[in-house]
Amino acid sequence: MKPVVWITGAGGLVGSYLMRTASRWALDWDARGLTRQDVDLTDETAVRRLWQEHQPTAVIHCAAISRPAVCEQDPELATKINVGATALLASLASEVPLLFFSSDQVFDGRQGWYVETDRINPINRYGETKAVAEKIVLSNPRHTVIRLALTAGTSATGDRSFVEDMRRSAGQGHDLTLFTDEFRCPVPAAVVARAVWELIGLKRSGLYHLGGAERLSRMEIGEALAMKYPELASRLQPGSVTAYRGPQRPPDLSMCCDKIQRLLSFPIPGLRSWLMTSTTPGTEVWDYPLTSSRVCS
Ligand SMILES: NC(=O)c1ccc[n+]([C@@H]2O[C@H](COP(=O)([O-])OP(=O)(O)OC[C@H]3O[C@@H](n4cnc5c(N)ncnc54)[C@H](OP(=O)(O)O)[C@@H]3O)[C@@H](O)[C@H]2O)c1
Repeated sequence: MKPVVWITGAGGLVGSYLMRTASRWALDWDARGLTRQDVDLTDETAVRRLWQEHQPTAVIHCAAISRPAVCEQDPELATKINVGATALLASLASEVPLLFFSSDQVFDGRQGWYVETDRINPINRYGETKAVAEKIVLSNPRHTVIRLALTAGTSATGDRSFVEDMRRSAGQGHDLTLFTDEFRCPVPAAVVARAVWELIGLKRSGLYHLGGAERLSRMEIGEALAMKYPELASRLQPGSVTAYRGPQRPPDLSMCCDKIQRLLSFPIPGLRSWLMTSTTPGTEVWDYPLTSSRVCS
């Protein structure tokens, strides 16, 4: 019998990529995906019962309130899930590895190219919940935190990634105002899944940054996506974050990923190089091909 690994948030963007790649990259594991229908992670009794039943020997915790705007609207709910459910899982998994997804949003974005030892300073509720949760997780030396960058991909529900948001908005006839002075390191979800399975296999704990190899402005991200989705091209409007009147936004969340890169068997691609090499007809843009040539830079 293979050891059981729990994947929470299995219906979400990252969790679904982990589930669909498990048969390829996690052959030693019995991957059990947990959706909200399987268990509400804020229901402690139900979670404890399922833990006893499955007895997982590792946990990859993807479930979260992952949209910053939702965290601003309902900070109590955000804390309950992003902190409370994480603390519960970390305590249940005290003797086994647990991998938790934090976010580049723990930084204020004033510096850019952050390394793991840089001071965190979240400027929104989402980042605050992640900062609290990662401290809880890292108090156990068996556990791992990945600070993840903006993640690209497609989901079963079609409403999980920023790529899907942009395509939907353009499809509804809206222009997309994209800042030329706000920077991210977008990473395909398939790359995240592969990196996570490798890290789990290596039994590495601690704190890691994981983002794409290229630092791109929002406008450059839009232009790169328009190579694959031509319908976006006429909708892209350059803008400046200085003219934005909403809640404060971190301007530069680029992260240095050398620490995790040194452990991985493949080079982490940038978004543009990923898209430029995904030209094989019949290949889904965000799928990882069987050969690794796609991500070689
Ligand atoms: N995607 C990104 O760009 C990005 C960037 C940085 C960090 N991260 C972090 O990476 C992790 C995975 O992100 P993601 O993009 O996969 O998020 P996602 O698509 O929003 O998926 C999160 C999943 O958590 C589930 N969930 C929420 N509350 C729950 C509860 N009480 N009980 C059970 N399940 C619950 C959701 O279920 P429902 O489907 O039923 O709502 C959803 O399937 C998260 O921790 C996120 O904060 C993501």
